[in-house]
Amino acid sequence: MRCYSEMNPKILVFLLVASLQICSIAARTDIDDVAAVKALKGMWENTPPSWEGQDPCGDQWDGIKCINSRVNSIQLSSMGLKGQLSGYISDLQELQTIDLSYNKDLGGPLPTSIGSLKKLENLIMVGCGFFGPIPDSIGSLQQLVFLSLNSNKFSGQIPPSIGNLSQLFWLDLTDNKLEGPIPISTGTTPGLDMLIKTKHFHLGKNQLSGRIPPELFSSDMRLKHVLFDSNKLTGSIPSTLGLVQTLEVVRLDRNSLTGPVPSNLNKLTNVSDLFLSNNKLSGPLPNLTGMNILSYLDMSNNSFDASNFPPWISTLQSLTTLVMENTQLQGQIPTRFFSLPYLQTVDLSNNTLNGTLDIGTSYRDRLQLIDLRNNLIAEYSPIPGQKQVEVILVNNLVCKETGVSADYCTIPRPNSSNVSLPNNCEPIPCRSNQISSPKCKCAYPYTGLLVFIAPSFSVLDNKTNYILLVQQLMDSFSSKQLPVDSVSISNQRKDPFSYLELKLEVFPSNQDHFNRSVISQIAFVLSNANFNPTKPFGPYFFHGDSYQYFAGEATGSNNSLNTSIIIGAVAGGFALVLLLLLAGVYAYHQKKRAERATERNNPFAHWDSTQSSGAGVPQLKGARCFSFEELKKYTSNFSEANNIGSGGYGKVYRGILPSGELIAIKRAQQISLQGGLEFKTEIELLSRVHHKNLVSLLGFCFDQGEQMLIYEFVPNGSLRDSLSGKSGTRLDWIRRLKIALGSARGLAYLHELANPPIIHRDIKTTNILLDECLNAKVADFGLSKLMGDTEKGHVTTQVKGTMGYLDPEYYMTQLLTEKSDVYSFGVVMLELLTARKPIERGKYIVREVKMAMDRKKDLYNLHEFLDPGIGLETTLKGLNKFVDLALECVKESGADRPKMGEVVKEIEDILQLAGLNPNNESASTSASYEEAAKGSPRHPYSKDSFDYSGAFPPSKIQPQ
Ligand SMILES: *[C@@H]1O[C@H](CO)[C@@H](O)[C@H](O)[C@H]1NC(C)=O
Ligand SMILES: *[C@@H]1O[C@H](CO)[C@@H](O)[C@H](O)[C@H]1NC(C)=O
Ligand SMILES: *[C@@H]1O[C@H](CO)[C@@H](O)[C@H](O)[C@H]1NC(C)=O
Ligand SMILES: *[C@@H]1O[C@H](CO)[C@@H](O)[C@H](O)[C@H]1NC(C)=O
Repeated sequence: MRCYSEMNPKILVFLLVASLQICSIAARTDIDDVAAVKALKGMWENTPPSWEGQDPCGDQWDGIKCINSRVNSIQLSSMGLKGQLSGYISDLQELQTIDLSYNKDLGGPLPTSIGSLKKLENLIMVGCGFFGPIPDSIGSLQQLVFLSLNSNKFSGQIPPSIGNLSQLFWLDLTDNKLEGPIPISTGTTPGLDMLIKTKHFHLGKNQLSGRIPPELFSSDMRLKHVLFDSNKLTGSIPSTLGLVQTLEVVRLDRNSLTGPVPSNLNKLTNVSDLFLSNNKLSGPLPNLTGMNILSYLDMSNNSFDASNFPPWISTLQSLTTLVMENTQLQGQIPTRFFSLPYLQTVDLSNNTLNGTLDIGTSYRDRLQLIDLRNNLIAEYSPIPGQKQVEVILVNNLVCKETGVSADYCTIPRPNSSNVSLPNNCEPIPCRSNQISSPKCKCAYPYTGLLVFIAPSFSVLDNKTNYILLVQQLMDSFSSKQLPVDSVSISNQRKDPFSYLELKLEVFPSNQDHFNRSVISQIAFVLSNANFNPTKPFGPYFFHGDSYQYFAGEATGSNNSLNTSIIIGAVAGGFALVLLLLLAGVYAYHQKKRAERATERNNPFAHWDSTQSSGAGVPQLKGARCFSFEELKKYTSNFSEANNIGSGGYGKVYRGILPSGELIAIKRAQQISLQGGLEFKTEIELLSRVHHKNLVSLLGFCFDQGEQMLIYEFVPNGSLRDSLSGKSGTRLDWIRRLKIALGSARGLAYLHELANPPIIHRDIKTTNILLDECLNAKVADFGLSKLMGDTEKGHVTTQVKGTMGYLDPEYYMTQLLTEKSDVYSFGVVMLELLTARKPIERGKYIVREVKMAMDRKKDLYNLHEFLDPGIGLETTLKGLNKFVDLALECVKESGADRPKMGEVVKEIEDILQLAGLNPNNESASTSASYEEAAKGSPRHPYSKDSFDYSGAFPPSKIQPQ
């Protein structure tokens, strides 16, 4: 005892630290995955309390499942998560399932990098707040089976690349803001017609336009559900739809479709639900004879030719619901129609049906409603003593006769036909927020809206259906061994889209609340159609509420009053202390906030005024000042996972702004720190340079002894990566010409338009980056020298540059002129042709090309040098001129080399020769790139394909 109490506190601390270290050594999670999960967490609020500590797998973070120390799934539905999805999710390379459904405050753009999750099978984010385009990179998820992005705010077009998802079973983009056409493949670009394994096309409630492409459907397809309702589709229904024999549900309603319905539609003999309503369809009513399991038929509000009530309708033996409002029906309704065995609801309002309404005597109990308002029916005599069917004849001749006050002449009040089973137990009173379950136990249920898109029945009033639904729900929960005690269904209603909404409550067994992992799993069952109800329910989606009772009591504000009263009564004094403490914390927080606000308003408030550098606040255009703390946050504390390169200057990190924008941060290492004045000059210069072919500076950080430059993140890596095949982008001849033109324009701007002019000094293919449309952006002119007026066009300085690109004249004379950049650019041009490094196996590309070329021969006799990726099978128009220009650039004497402006003109001419408008620089020969440019702001980032390391001028060069 004595020994212990006298133990040096330092030793205690040491022991504590040591044991913590042992913990972290024993961590089970892969280190990259830890960093990535932390990056996710860094952008979320309301993560589960278990998300502390260092080891997501070992510490069993809620919602995270691992296999062999790699994160395998993330399921966090209905958690009330707030924030954005970090692009670092792409580092979780073993991830197979993401389900983040029902977190309505989780949103922002879907990071492009998601496309690099090569093992992903389920991408499910239903009912969140995601917006912006669905990135084209989604088409790289080769293993994807479920893609459910319904009920978000995605805009832009459906990426054609989805057509590449050959394993896709389920495509649900319902209820977004998607627009433009339904993409089909064109030989060079993919499209949805390629999805022959997919069973579900759920694209309803968007703003898709254009016609439904006939090429979309073929007899190879296995589609069950085609849901295109509530869009802006035009043109006629393609007859190819009739080829997809597997179809069960077709919803084309609420579009602007025109023309006649193709006559082969009745070949779809497996269809149980057909919605063609609210279009501008014309011609004769389709003849649907033979669709023997058709249950629900809605053709309302179209411009069909006037016709009598078609005889074939009375042959549809499975029909439960017939909706033909405003379809120009006339004549008398045949009596035998009403004896169809499953008929529930008939809505034939707003037609010109006439004569006598005779529903006969052989209709069944389930017939509930016959709505014939706004017709011309003259007679109806209900047979006394027969089961009452609700008949509405408002605004028919029969109701216009004086003195008629029959029930059928008034519009009935909508009766709430709520179904519920009698409890076999006595419901008990529950405390606030708890609800008595069907088994009469008080608990906090998980709730949400279950929405059936096309049920084969009109109303859920048939006890058998109700029991069936409850049974199927319970079955799907118990098959996953989920602790569910009972479910209840209530409040059914048809929404304006003819969807049937039901309120669902799921009650826990064993305790009165669910824990996080169970909620996620229940939500997963409902969000990825794990719950697969049989007919007559059909396709559905679920909208979960966020669950607030994980601790067994409300964490929401509703309950906080109760809780604080209890605390007050039990321990008033303690509460007071707590309040005082909170007040203190609040005051401190406010002060900090005020400080931060001041900082933001005056970003240079902390400009290093203490240093005797004499550097005042820099004069910046469009660049902002970042604090060290901020950048720490955006890079997950400058984690290794975010380190994307390094060089003599220091390291480059990738970061993500709260807006979701990716940035590249150059962090100077200690020995590279410049004086304050130099740093200031540099960022002032850089912030003035704006050109679409130059990587732009977004800001800087000069804080806590750090010097950092923040650049836009250029997603497609360097030209070197593309030429070497590392990034997987194939560059054909035209693209190479465009890249040459772009980088020449960037350089010409630096030389001729920047004020003062800037010499790059380190032009090379690792310093030319490619954006999402493969536009060239010249990087790292940051450390170039300005050309002061006083120095008359050249500067003497310590030779910097990279061997192979280095202008020999500059090397020997140490006189730097802009012509040195021209030399380096000439080398880049040769590299574009050959894909070879300037010096490879001791051979210098400039000398090799000069020696081999023969102007009299085809392609200047350079066949063996040309990179096969350039497309040797095509005619390389302008290649000879390109070689000539490159050789002009690498002339021994700077005076003989062209200026960059002249180089630009020359490449423009070559592009014209190749048949392209040089001003249309980003237009590509392949349509897929156009789509990519429009549809997604960025391409996937991959650690390997991106390398800024070359972007630092080496501090030393090796002599040749
Ligand atoms: C509908 O089609 C069936 C069989 O294809 C045919 O027997 C019938 O006469 C047609 N009915 C009408 C009204 O065209
Ligand atoms: C009902 O309408 C049809 C077609 O418009 C017409 O030929 C027929 O005579 C009408 N029948 C009665 C009883 O008014
Ligand atoms: C049916 O007719 C009534 C009265 O003419 C009109 O107000 C209503 O909008 C029509 N409904 C449809 C669906 O056409
Ligand atoms: C309820 O519906 C089911 C299936 O649609 C049917 O088999 C059953 O006979 C119906 N029951 C009643 C009482 O209508």
